[in-house]
Amino acid sequence: MGSIQEWNAEQYAKNARFVSDLGQAVLDLLNPQPGERILDLGCGDGALTERLVAAGANVVGVDSSADMVRAAKDRGLDARVVDGYTLEFDSEFDAVFSNAAMHWMKRDPDAVVAGVYRAIKPGGRFVAEMGGHGCVAAITVALCATLQEGGLSNPADLIPWYFPTPDEYQARLEAAGFVIEHIALIPRPTPLPTGMRGWLDTFAIPFTTTLPEYKRGEFLDEVTEKLRPVLCDSNGRWTADYMRLRFLARQQ
Ligand code: BEZ
Repeated sequence: MGSIQEWNAEQYAKNARFVSDLGQAVLDLLNPQPGERILDLGCGDGALTERLVAAGANVVGVDSSADMVRAAKDRGLDARVVDGYTLEFDSEFDAVFSNAAMHWMKRDPDAVVAGVYRAIKPGGRFVAEMGGHGCVAAITVALCATLQEGGLSNPADLIPWYFPTPDEYQARLEAAGFVIEHIALIPRPTPLPTGMRGWLDTFAIPFTTTLPEYKRGEFLDEVTEKLRPVLCDSNGRWTADYMRLRFLARQQ
């Protein structure tokens, strides 16, 4: 949402289905009830939105990617192209839910939190999971180091993700008026079904677009080889160094 990452629903389904498959813990924290009206912020292709609907909730999914929203609509969902920084809902939802989306909203996290607060009815809840402090640290260092070796002077400026600590994010939520009922940083080494190259092809676009197209494959090969000793096991299976920030905050 609102980042220079480009989304392709078909590629996402192939390389990143694990993102929604691993969403059970945050769904359990939300505990959606039949008849509740829920906003799914950063709904992507709607894989988890569909599960909220299956629980009997009345769900609106929003995402900044038109391609993802088209894929969510193909599932029969109420999905809309909306920028996460400019949510315009007003006390409409019993809950706002978000999985693996808010780390892409790096430019102005307070605007996101303020829009969520406005969208929720008094007493309603905000339940979310996003990347947390230290998430994909090895992958990020490998991407930045390889760009630096190629002559780019400030590669860290390209990092598109916001991975806060629990303390930092709790302070933002409280400043907006939320009361925190639960917040935790959870290490979650994440197996990559299509390997490191599948992950990089899907999620590292803000880094690769700085290079001419003919250099991108070689760049990703170099990044992959830097990571092999630490994230690939002796059977050739890759695991990404994910950290999750999961919380339940309540509107007052
Ligand atoms: C995620 O979808 O959870 C994710 C994406 C990019 C970097 C780290 C995590």
